Amino acid sequence: MKIAVIGSGYVGLVSAACFAEIGHDVITVDNDAAKIAALERGETPIHELHLPDLLARHRGGRLTFSTSVQDAVRKSEAVFITVGTPQSETGEADLSYVEAVASEIAAALDSPKVVVEKSTVPVRTCEWLRQSLALNGAASGKFSVVSNPEFLREGSAVTDFLYPDRIVVGCDDAASAAVMQAIYKPLTSGEYYAEQTRVPFEGYPHAQAPIVVTNAKSAELIKHASNAFLAMKISFINAVANISEAVGADIQQVCAGIGSDSRIGSRFLNAGIGYGGSCFPKDVQAFRAVAEQCNCDFGLLTEVMRINAAQRSRFLKKVRNALWTLRGKQLGVLGLAFKGDTDDVRESPAIAVIEALLKEGAQIKVYDPAGMANARKLLPAAGVTYVQDEYAAAQGCDALLILTEWAEFAALDLRRVRSLLKYPIVIDGRNLYAPHAMSEAGLTYHSIGRATAQPVAVAAAAGSVGRVTQSRESVAAMSAGPVGRVVSEEHAELAK
Ligand code: UDX
Repeated sequence: MKIAVIGSGYVGLVSAACFAEIGHDVITVDNDAAKIAALERGETPIHELHLPDLLARHRGGRLTFSTSVQDAVRKSEAVFITVGTPQSETGEADLSYVEAVASEIAAALDSPKVVVEKSTVPVRTCEWLRQSLALNGAASGKFSVVSNPEFLREGSAVTDFLYPDRIVVGCDDAASAAVMQAIYKPLTSGEYYAEQTRVPFEGYPHAQAPIVVTNAKSAELIKHASNAFLAMKISFINAVANISEAVGADIQQVCAGIGSDSRIGSRFLNAGIGYGGSCFPKDVQAFRAVAEQCNCDFGLLTEVMRINAAQRSRFLKKVRNALWTLRGKQLGVLGLAFKGDTDDVRESPAIAVIEALLKEGAQIKVYDPAGMANARKLLPAAGVTYVQDEYAAAQGCDALLILTEWAEFAALDLRRVRSLLKYPIVIDGRNLYAPHAMSEAGLTYHSIGRATAQPVAVAAAAGSVGRVTQSRESVAAMSAGPVGRVVSEEHAELAK
């Protein structure tokens, strides 16, 4: 098929590259000429695994770039709208970019096209789109509007597209449904997964990608409801984590117990400083606005947002409790991006925590594998030093804070961290470690939904070791920790 993709941000560029990958001829459009020029030069403006390879593979072949909506529309059978739908002051989705593109598409229509809304939009946007296209001169019968929401997670967007849990297509006529089925056929038939050059992905449970074909409104609702449910799941487990911490339980073990129920599942049950990013915060607000407009009470979403915001302030309290006054304290911080495997810092909980720490007069040394360039645009220069790795962040600091769940932050040489810190304190907002691993390295470890782990005397190379008080219960609890690691003889002795 010949496809136009209007908007080359996170969703548009990944979608365009993946449509080319599965065999379509794609023109991706952006009104930012500099971005289009960079793409034509072979640059990849966003940090996404596999995206550079796909762009390199298809650039100039099945994938071309343009700044002209008209040109792209006239050469295509299907036109995907993937422009931003940011949050407005009232919490509703701002659809002005969608409407602007719709009027350009209307002016360009010279033959029947399928216009596809792929940006995350509130239910009934498809009706507004039809109305807008007609108002801007598109003759009826010359277009149909389809909803095809994306379920791409930043950091795994390419494999989320090519190996989806499900493709959702919302069509209100048979002809456009046939076009959409043809577009996704390489995935729904399984043909793509037999290709030698396919993007590698292990463990995909489907021989053929599942597809849900419904009407446009239902597809729009599926998207908002999916994101709202995932955000709710995160806030739910964070609320449980706070109870767990209050009663001395271990939230990681509670999650293992909850998640083993196949109706619940263990994914998206990671307690921490909460969710961020360009989707969940915006989509939960937008969905609540939709409910209000329909006079349906969805107060649950207000609670989801409240719990999420409270997680950050609870974490700050944990830092104060560990360090007393923060003014003048030097804090090592790991993480700026809103989650691991991305450079995106939009609505990042890490950024929010750092801003609050700076307001209390702390000095920050921060490292993030991909988010530092974007964070510099958001954070004040004063009080923040960007360093080249985790150990430089720990060097000479009063404590080390972990705010983003990068895999490399979960594999530190803890004894080295201990030797670099001024005080042996780690405050983990993403529960990346089993408490006993921290104790063994001689670190005091504060985390979410679990008791604080105290340092166990680190056996010196030779000679006597200062005994560190260690409550038997906490050692026993540690040894039974989720990692289930055998506690060393020394700990076992303490545990008696
Ligand atoms: C999300 C949806 O997952 C995706 O389907 C949709 O298309 C876009 O929005 P994304 O925002 O990229 O994707 O990231 P996601 O992996 O969902 O994480 C969102 C936030 O939740 C991050 O801040 C992450 O740190 C946090 N999170 C995630 C938790 O706090 N706990 C969890 O268990 C999972």
